[in-house]
Amino acid sequence: MTCIVTGGSSGIGEETAAGLAAIGARVIIVGKDARRAEEALARIRARHPPGPVEAMVADLGRRSEVERLAAALQASCPRIDVLVNNAGAMFGQREQTEDGIEKTLAVNVLAPFLLTELLTDRLRASAPARVVNLSSDAHRRARLDLADLQGAGKYNGWRAYCNSKLEILLLTKEFARRLQGSGVTVHAVNPGRVNTRFGLGNSGLFVLALRTFQRVLGIPPAEAARHVLFVATAPSVASSSGAYYFRDRPTPSSDVSLDAGVAARLWQECTALTHRSTDS
Ligand SMILES: NC(=O)c1ccc[n+]([C@@H]2O[C@H](COP(=O)([O-])OP(=O)(O)OC[C@H]3O[C@@H](n4cnc5c(N)ncnc54)[C@H](OP(=O)(O)O)[C@@H]3O)[C@@H](O)[C@H]2O)c1
Repeated sequence: MTCIVTGGSSGIGEETAAGLAAIGARVIIVGKDARRAEEALARIRARHPPGPVEAMVADLGRRSEVERLAAALQASCPRIDVLVNNAGAMFGQREQTEDGIEKTLAVNVLAPFLLTELLTDRLRASAPARVVNLSSDAHRRARLDLADLQGAGKYNGWRAYCNSKLEILLLTKEFARRLQGSGVTVHAVNPGRVNTRFGLGNSGLFVLALRTFQRVLGIPPAEAARHVLFVATAPSVASSSGAYYFRDRPTPSSDVSLDAGVAARLWQECTALTHRSTDS
C-alpha cells in the first residue's frame, strides 16, 4: 500500500504518517521546510524501522511546486492507495503567493484541489483508493463569498481559515460526486481541537490565545491522527464517499457545505485559479 501525507512533517500529518508506517505501508511525507521534513522522517523511521518512509519537499502555496510534486509522485509511485491532503496553515495578515493568490486559499484549498486532480488518473488506476482531506468544525463559521474568494475586499485571518475549511469540504463532496463509480472515495475529517504548532508562526494576541486554546483544550496529535487513519484505512469506510467524519463517524456538516450548486461554482473558480497562466 502506498500512502502520501502532505504536511507529514509536523503535528497530525506526522502522526498519521507514523500510523501508516506502523501497518507496513510505503509512506511519502510532504513538507515545506526541508529540515523539518528530514527530522520528521528520522523520527518516524526510528519508531517504525521496517517501514519504507520517504520525504519530499514542496511549497504547496506555489502552483509550480504542486505540479512538480505531482510529477515526482507519478514517477516514483506506480500506485497510490491513499492521499491525505493534510497540509494547512493560517495567516494573520493577508499575504499573496508568487502566483498572486491569497495564501490561505492557495495552501488549504487550491493545493489539495490541484494535487488531487493531477493524481486522479493514478488513483483511479490503483482503485480501490482513498483521498482524505483535513477540514475542521471551523467550517461552520465560514462566510463564503464566491465573488471574493481571496479576501481582497476585507481580510480577516481567522475568517479566511474558516472559509478554507468550508471550501475543502465542498470540494470533497464535489470530488466524491465526480469520482462516483471509479473506486476512488473522497472524505473529509474534522480532527477536533489538537495540540500542534498550527498557526504559531503568526504574531500578536491571536497567537497567544491560539496557543492557550490548543494547550488547554487540544487533544494530542497522535489521538487526532487515529481518526484520520480510520478514514484512510478502515474497511467500513470503503463503500461510501463524500462524508464529513468526526470521531470515526459521518457527521452532519453545515447547510452550505451540502449545497451542490455552490460546490460546482467553487470547482469552476478553483479550476480557473489553478490553470491560469502565471504571467497573465
Ligand atoms: N490543530 C488543530 O486544532 C486542527 C483542527 C482542525 C483542523 N486542523 C487541520 O489539520 C491539518 C494539520 O494541522 P496541524 O495542526 O497538524 O498543523 P501543523 O503542526 O502546523 O502542521 C502543518 C503541516 O502543514 C505543512 N505545511 C504548511 N504550509 C505548507 C506549504 N505551503 N507547503 C507544504 N506544506 C505546508 C507544514 O509543513 P512545514 O513544517 O514544512 O511548514 C506541516 O507539516 C491542517 O489542515 C489544519 O487546518 C487542525
